[in-house]
Amino acid sequence: MPVSLLERTALVTGAGRGVGRGIALDLARHGAKVVVNDLGGTLDGEGADLSVAESVAREIEAAGGVAAANTGDVTDSEDAYAMVRQAIDLWGRLDIVVSNAGILRDRALHNLPEADWAAVLAVHLTGGYNLLHHAWPAFRQQHYGRVVLTTSNSGFLGNFGQSNYAAAKAGLIGLMNVAKLEGEKYNVMVNCLNPGAATRMTTAVSAMTPEREAAMRPELVAPAVTYLCSDSCQSSGMIINSGGGAFGRAAIVQNERVPIADATADDVEARWDEITSLESAEHWWSVRETRAAHEAAREAQA
Ligand SMILES: NC(=O)c1ccc[n+]([C@@H]2O[C@H](COP(=O)([O-])OP(=O)(O)OC[C@H]3O[C@@H](n4cnc5c(N)ncnc54)[C@H](O)[C@@H]3O)[C@@H](O)[C@H]2O)c1
Repeated sequence: MPVSLLERTALVTGAGRGVGRGIALDLARHGAKVVVNDLGGTLDGEGADLSVAESVAREIEAAGGVAAANTGDVTDSEDAYAMVRQAIDLWGRLDIVVSNAGILRDRALHNLPEADWAAVLAVHLTGGYNLLHHAWPAFRQQHYGRVVLTTSNSGFLGNFGQSNYAAAKAGLIGLMNVAKLEGEKYNVMVNCLNPGAATRMTTAVSAMTPEREAAMRPELVAPAVTYLCSDSCQSSGMIINSGGGAFGRAAIVQNERVPIADATADDVEARWDEITSLESAEHWWSVRETRAAHEAAREAQA
């Protein structure tokens, strides 16, 4: 069955530019009605430009889709509530939330002022919480929801000078891990997107040739998100890599623990390679399953 979002409504934050714009256009192309949110500020989160969200909403309408602009700030709980309400008031429901708004304030850790730490966490991580917190009652009531939280390689691999951004992006993986469990019985699927695209955010960090920019067009990220936002998607708790026309998965894994009775630091040193080997590594659904596995391993040893 071709992926269709007819009868679905979506809220995409940071949808006035870059990756978010590509996602909003593709969701609309597949039939979703879209609230296009964007505050329209600078890359470091200063100021606002109301025309940014408006222009993408008009672009969707010009292509025959249905959209409404929203210029709220995702860091503000009342603004986030208003974005959710806007979809429900206009179209009767909200099915899809894509938390994508983002800023950068890169500085090496020893030079990072608290204000820059807090501002970046507020947009990426608190913004994600604000959206889920306000959308959740509708998801529970209608027994349906699709959520995509935009994370980054910076969060699970590290990128010099991005401690605030990396912490926020890794935090979104934790938010997904719990939201996927709380959404399970309400048919709410929660996944993370790890995009790669030429936008003002990436070209600010490293210059790209025109050929590379063309190959990394932000629109190329969107197909994975449209799938994750569809009825067809029955996956939850996944981190999906998407960019430059290639798709994949990232995951947090754990190996089997090495039992060492009455261990000392010397025992840990002696068996360090075995302890840190990822040969037996597995991805676990939740804490509950790892507890059960550890319990079974302990019983087998006894
Ligand atoms: N481009 C990449 O390769 C890449 C890689 C990893 C992660 N990401 C993530 O993808 C998302 C989109 O980034 P992009 O590259 O398209 O950057 P971008 O700067 O082009 O787009 C981000 C948008 O978010 C909006 N925004 C910022 N703060 C906001 C707020 N408080 N409320 C509402 N809107 C706000 C901005 O106005 C902007 O239009 C971000 O979360 C970013 O961290 C991007």
